[in-house]
Order: sequence, then C-alpha cells, then structure tokens
Amino acid sequence: MVLKRSHMVLALLGLFLLGLTQLSAGKESPTKKFQRQHMDTEHLTANNTNYCNLMMKARNMTKGRCKPVNTFIHEPKSVVDAVCQEKNITCKNGQPSCHQSSLPMILTHCRQTGASKYPNCQYRASYLNKQIIVACGGQAYVPVHFDAYV
Ligand SMILES: *[C@@H]1O[C@H](CO)[C@@H](O)[C@H](O)[C@H]1NC(C)=O
Ligand SMILES: *[C@@H]1O[C@H](CO)[C@@H](O)[C@H](O)[C@H]1NC(C)=O
Ligand SMILES: *[C@@H]1O[C@H](CO)[C@@H](O)[C@H](O)[C@H]1NC(C)=O
Repeated sequence: MVLKRSHMVLALLGLFLLGLTQLSAGKESPTKKFQRQHMDTEHLTANNTNYCNLMMKARNMTKGRCKPVNTFIHEPKSVVDAVCQEKNITCKNGQPSCHQSSLPMILTHCRQTGASKYPNCQYRASYLNKQIIVACGGQAYVPVHFDAYV
C-alpha cells in the first residue's frame, strides 16, 4: 500500500498541531494563575481557622515549596477585573501597569508560620478590608499579578 504524499503531509501537520495544542494546554496563562492564586468567590470571607492551610493546598501553592505569603480576594470576578480600569500607578517592581481599587475589598492574607516546614505548610490568616493594587495585562487587560493592599 502506498500512502499518497499529500496524505502524509496532512498527517504530519495534524501531529504538529496536536503537539502545539498540548503545549499551550500545559502552560497556565498569567490570567488563570491570578484566578487560581488570588480569587475565592465561593467563600464570602474566610470563615474557618484552617482556611489558609486548606486553600493554599487546594490552590497548589504548597507544591515543591510553601509559598510564603498569599492574598485571597472574596469579591466577584467582574469587580476585581474592573480594577484594571481604575487609577494606574507604578507597581512595586517599577512597572507602570498597576491599578489601585478605589473601594476596599474583603481579603484574607495568608502568611506562613515560623514552625511551618515543607511539605507540612502551615499558615496564619489575617482578615482585611483594604484597597487592592494589581498589575494588569493581556489583550483583555485583566489582573495578572497581585501587588499589594493599602
Ligand atoms: C463557610 O465555609 C463553608 C465551608 O468551607 C462554605 O461552604 C460556606 O460557603 C462559607 N460561608 C461563607 C459565608 O463564606
Ligand atoms: C492542582 O494540581 C493538580 C495536579 O497537577 C491539578 O489536577 C489541579 O487542577 C490543580 N488545581 C488547581 C486549583 O489548579
Ligand atoms: C498609566 O498608563 C499609561 C498608559 O497605559 C502609561 O503610559 C503610564 O506610564 C501609566 N502611569 C503610571 C503612573 O503608571
């Protein structure tokens, strides 16, 4: 049986495209990463003393190492995305793409305890109501990095 040359080329092209899709599926976009690390719309607030221990693990921030600090935002996605339309300021790292919310938001700040040792990452939670500063990017110009709360 002889495979036609054009069929062969199509088959190779198909394999190549499949590979590309898998590569892009494996890489988490900055927008998705921000959602995973900082957005918690399921809980109106951290209502459990174990919240940080559970959430840091559930959101894969205790894989390979314990992420030392992380802030969760308990506000709707539309509200957080809209911060990118607010006053732009310079980020901590000097980039000009940060924006500060005019209104305070309900936050839980998680900080690793002194006794915490990987892989048993332990966190303490602080419950805050503060304005947030996020870096924005991408075509949709939505949050890609949590810079600070003020
Ligand atoms: C409190 O936590 C429980 C379990 O994690 C969750 O189902 C519930 O929605 C939370 N309540 C609020 C007000 O966030
Ligand atoms: C955490 O990682 C696991 C395995 O790599 C993955 O299946 C899961 O979807 C991740 N969880 C989140 C919230 O990204
Ligand atoms: C505000 O945004 C503009 C346009 O995106 C940018 O050129 C400028 O540097 C920003 N200003 C500050 C203070 O970050």
